[in-house]
Amino acid sequence: MSAPAHTIDEITPPPSMADDYDGEFAGLVAVRDEVETATMGTDALTMSAAELLPIYSDQQYSPRRLVVVRVDGRIVGRGFFGWAPEAGAKSARVYGEILPAFRNHGLGTALVDHLERMAIDAGYGILQTYVTHMTATIGERVPSPTGFGSLPAADPGVRFLLRRGYRLEQVSRISAVDLPVDPGTLAALRQAAEDAAGPDYRIVTWLGRTPEEWIDDVATLRNRMSVDMPQGALDVTEEIWDAARVRSSDVREEASGRQVLTVAAEHIPTGRLAGFSVLSLPADASRAVAQGDTLVLSEHRGHRLGMLMKIANLQELARVSPDSSMVFTGNAEENRHMLNVNEAVGFRAIGYEGGWKKVVSPATPPGAG
Ligand SMILES: CC(C)(COP(=O)(O)OP(=O)(O)OC[C@H]1O[C@@H](n2cnc3c(N)ncnc32)[C@H](O)[C@@H]1OP(=O)(O)O)[C@@H](O)C(=O)NCCC(=O)NCCS
Repeated sequence: MSAPAHTIDEITPPPSMADDYDGEFAGLVAVRDEVETATMGTDALTMSAAELLPIYSDQQYSPRRLVVVRVDGRIVGRGFFGWAPEAGAKSARVYGEILPAFRNHGLGTALVDHLERMAIDAGYGILQTYVTHMTATIGERVPSPTGFGSLPAADPGVRFLLRRGYRLEQVSRISAVDLPVDPGTLAALRQAAEDAAGPDYRIVTWLGRTPEEWIDDVATLRNRMSVDMPQGALDVTEEIWDAARVRSSDVREEASGRQVLTVAAEHIPTGRLAGFSVLSLPADASRAVAQGDTLVLSEHRGHRLGMLMKIANLQELARVSPDSSMVFTGNAEENRHMLNVNEAVGFRAIGYEGGWKKVVSPATPPGAG
């Protein structure tokens, strides 16, 4: 049986939400939020169209092509093909989703066929996708080859990806903590981490754009973040970060209406940053705060700086945004060190994400010809 009458169209993000005259971009984001809410059983992690617009418009550092699926003129599915701008990148990202009420009629297959064709025609030999899956813990499981974590075999995305030849490479845990965290617990954990870190490190914090004095150090941290976090056998492209890219990222965050709260650890003898931990705050303080990057440079590991920065960031959050009700984060199931830090503060699992990979044969490598 073939899929019902539908169209698959590429769309361009509008310059601003006021320019989204036909509601195309808002319709795409509405699909994102409805699918995520249905999968996770909570709308805590949804993003507004205005928040996503600057991110989806970044054709310089995080290029992507957006598509929507329409049935009878209504947007019922959305997806993207994204790639890294760095020379020599071998893998592309493809992601598609269909509203629950329109599934099992072949629309997902048509959408992902379309996205994969875009990526293969552009010369990519490795297709990867990161997907939020059902949290069910009963029934048959698909284990992660890392040895840590598994996904429910009955999840529609798991079935779909396995049938299309994707291999599960990694499972990440999405966890959340309700705020406020008891100040006494935070103070005790901070004291213990400070004692372990010793006098060579001090915490620096800022809200919003990166201060000029730290721009190059943050570029180094963002570069290391792209390759240092555990990523199983997924293909990883090292992201090249310089001061211009850090400034561009800051401007996009600002344009999204969100505020970034950064805590970093300065190594006093060298005056350089040894690590950072970032939170992204929505304009509406009642909505969940997203944990962004947390990294300690390899030469500074073993000093409890990860714990120190995370605790300092939660303390700072309580000061600048006392009405925030939740922080959520994502960590590879094999990243026991980071999970230990989060569990000590009270984070609990609320969902799981799979990292999937499929190797295909491209006609021409990206950038060739
Ligand atoms: C995965 C997802 C995109 C599938 O969308 P969908 O529209 O249901 O996809 P399809 O209809 O093409 O395929 C789903 C099932 O319906 C079956 N099917 C396909 N055409 C059909 C038809 N005309 N009639 C009846 N069944 C059909 C397929 O064989 C498939 O069966 P399976 O579950 O046993 O593998 C959707 O479940 C979703 O959005 N999930 C959340 C996001 C996600 O996991 N995305 C995948 C990342 S790329």
